[in-house]
Amino acid sequence: MHAHRRGVAGLVQVRGDGHRPARRDDPGRRARPAVHRLGRPRRERLPRPRHVPHRPAERRRAPGLRLRHPLLRRGRARPAAAAHRAGGARPPAARAQARPRRADRLPEVDRRPRPAFPAGGVVSGLGRFSGRVALVTGAGSGIGAACAARLAAEGAFVGVLDLRAAAAKTTAAAIRARGDTATALTCDVSDEKQVEQAVAELVASFGRVDVLHSNAAVLDADVYGRDRDLAGLDTAVWDRTMEVNLRGAMLMVKHTVPAMPDGGAIVLTSSVSALVGDTMHAAYGSSKSALIGFTRYVATMYGSRGVRCNAVAPALVLTAAAQRALTPAQLADKAAERLLPWACTVDDVANLVSFLLSDEARCITGQTVTIDSGTLAHRPQHAVHQWRDAQ
Ligand SMILES: NC(=O)c1ccc[n+]([C@@H]2O[C@H](COP(=O)([O-])OP(=O)(O)OC[C@H]3O[C@@H](n4cnc5c(N)ncnc54)[C@H](O)[C@@H]3O)[C@@H](O)[C@H]2O)c1
Repeated sequence: MHAHRRGVAGLVQVRGDGHRPARRDDPGRRARPAVHRLGRPRRERLPRPRHVPHRPAERRRAPGLRLRHPLLRRGRARPAAAAHRAGGARPPAARAQARPRRADRLPEVDRRPRPAFPAGGVVSGLGRFSGRVALVTGAGSGIGAACAARLAAEGAFVGVLDLRAAAAKTTAAAIRARGDTATALTCDVSDEKQVEQAVAELVASFGRVDVLHSNAAVLDADVYGRDRDLAGLDTAVWDRTMEVNLRGAMLMVKHTVPAMPDGGAIVLTSSVSALVGDTMHAAYGSSKSALIGFTRYVATMYGSRGVRCNAVAPALVLTAAAQRALTPAQLADKAAERLLPWACTVDDVANLVSFLLSDEARCITGQTVTIDSGTLAHRPQHAVHQWRDAQ
């Protein structure tokens, strides 16, 4: 008689005597009670399968594992087990051999296709951007040019974007001369039509964008140079600063994120001027502060799509633009503020930017990383001394 009982695993068909029917393809195998599926304690002693040699001690230790071992299935005795049967003590190595190897028990390596970006695990050294498409704004000179060159040297196809066409072409040509891949894009980042067109041009050439370094800022004498006392500030200076530094970054992100179908990474160039006050450059500092907030919003909005967004905040980097914009006295002040004897170079910033854009930073998003040789890491003694000297 057959009956149906409901066990943990659902309905299980059992014979009237509480045993499953023996499998047809294995006539030597005796039927086992199915009671363990039904929650009843298993007390009966199993009859020993005839084709397995009788090794009571080993079978008591791990009957299931013994019976399934491939060597035993093929009827061959393993050397360790043979030595043991001959009366010798089993060396630890032999005992370890007797168990199935750890690799046999672990699941197979997960070979399911992964999204192209980000790749899991740590990727270090050159080649972190192999096959990736990068876009760097303000890459005609200074920090942007160094970052574009670094990304290209590590395998990226780089869109070198700048307002100054000749500067963008020079950077792109220098990258290509080293055997890497770059294309020059001329664009005013504050102009939405131009941004849309530049991103479309890069996507037409390389199919998508994987990483964006939004770095362009207005640092010329006409704008940054006139960003001084607020009471006398030409509002056009404020507006142009915000247009390029903040709206430009927003437009770049707006038009690049849709070109990141497999996720991506974004770095925005802020500044230590975003984190402390100063007696001048309120427009510049405020635009850079806003970028830090914007970074968090982008990270939050697109994190679930695998897009990371971080900001870097450099202190003085001795680019041609910085040297033009600051007086010798201001440069000396900044040197005095540093804890370390050296200022950051464009390559130091490129190290940080390329790290944040790489898969090595795949769990870092929404952050602002200061790179300042210790400028903001101490009490503002420099200012205290200045006040004391002035009295
Ligand atoms: N050099 C420093 O000391 C320092 C410190 C902190 C932050 N930063 C920031 O680093 C970034 C790069 O600075 P840098 O020193 O290399 O200056 P830079 O002048 O060499 O680079 C800025 C680039 O942006 C380009 N640009 C300006 N307006 C643009 C626009 N509307 N559209 C497209 N491109 C435009 C310029 O042509 C220039 O090539 C800037 O965001 C700057 O604020 C610099």
